[in-house]
Amino acid sequence: MSRISLRRLRQDPHIRSLTREVRPVAEQFIQPLFVVEGLAEREAVPGLTGVYRDTPDSLLRQIESDLAAGVSKFLLFCVPAGKQAQGIDWSFNAGQIAAIKRRFGSSVWLAVDVCLCSSTPHGHCGVLNPEGDHLDNVASVQELAAAAAAYALAGADCVAPSDMMDGRIGAIRQALEEVGRDRTLLMAYSAKFHSNFYGPFRVAADSAPKEASKLTDRASYQIDPARPGDALMSVERDVAEGADILMVKPGMPYLDILADLARQFPQPWAVYEVSGEYASIELLAQQGLTNRIGAHREAWTALVRAGASMIISYGARHARDWLAA
Ligand code: PBG
Repeated sequence: MSRISLRRLRQDPHIRSLTREVRPVAEQFIQPLFVVEGLAEREAVPGLTGVYRDTPDSLLRQIESDLAAGVSKFLLFCVPAGKQAQGIDWSFNAGQIAAIKRRFGSSVWLAVDVCLCSSTPHGHCGVLNPEGDHLDNVASVQELAAAAAAYALAGADCVAPSDMMDGRIGAIRQALEEVGRDRTLLMAYSAKFHSNFYGPFRVAADSAPKEASKLTDRASYQIDPARPGDALMSVERDVAEGADILMVKPGMPYLDILADLARQFPQPWAVYEVSGEYASIELLAQQGLTNRIGAHREAWTALVRAGASMIISYGARHARDWLAA
């Protein structure tokens, strides 16, 4: 008869809580926010319960209630009304950042997503070439660096480029220095995959590639899910160019990538539990097919276990309650 019992340490809630190696805590969470120019009233985002496309006014009220729920870290996505192919005007976006900082100051930590997809008529993350069949890297990086500088000047604590152009981290770091914002953090969406889990986000951010363009998807700039080697090279490059925080995105389907990279790189790791991942749990729960809070907690535990120190999640505003439940 074996004297080894693994069930001895599983027998009651006391010993189970004493033996846990991983504990996601609310302070690790970053809440995404969407603010849309020209909206009369805020709109719910399909699939993402409790997440809205906010108006500039409702955005400030949302942040106020998030602060009361213990959330102080945000990732802002701005959706301007006018779309431009190049020479983009970032003033709506910068104005939102300035308004948040004017109202809440250093009680909020504000990261801002830097990308072109919500601002261009075609919905791609960069500048299309004249033939409309690929993104022009040099022109795209110029736009991104200008956006990042404008956001930093408006008061962003962190800029987070999600476009996947080559060389954007170095160019943004240089642009930040040129405008005297050398303390602004740079969070690189480094290991960002070409994923089918971005659906609800593209509705929220009005950023799906539009049918009119010859380039119908983002496969020519985001990482192929079957290429972990590309993720590794992308991270090495972003570290060399001066990224402060690295990211894997999406989360659950890429836990192997996160675990490998977090072991290899001592930089802080963020993981983005993307809209489709979050929505799939919500949709299961709505059908009575899972325990909502338990499933979210399990997903978050997996992300921390794999090596993330910060989690971007649409459920960040519930983390305090759900993790205590
Ligand atoms: C692109 C961007 C995407 C997300 C954030 N920024 C994905 C994309 O459209 O390719 C996805 C986030 C999510 O699904 O929650 N700039």
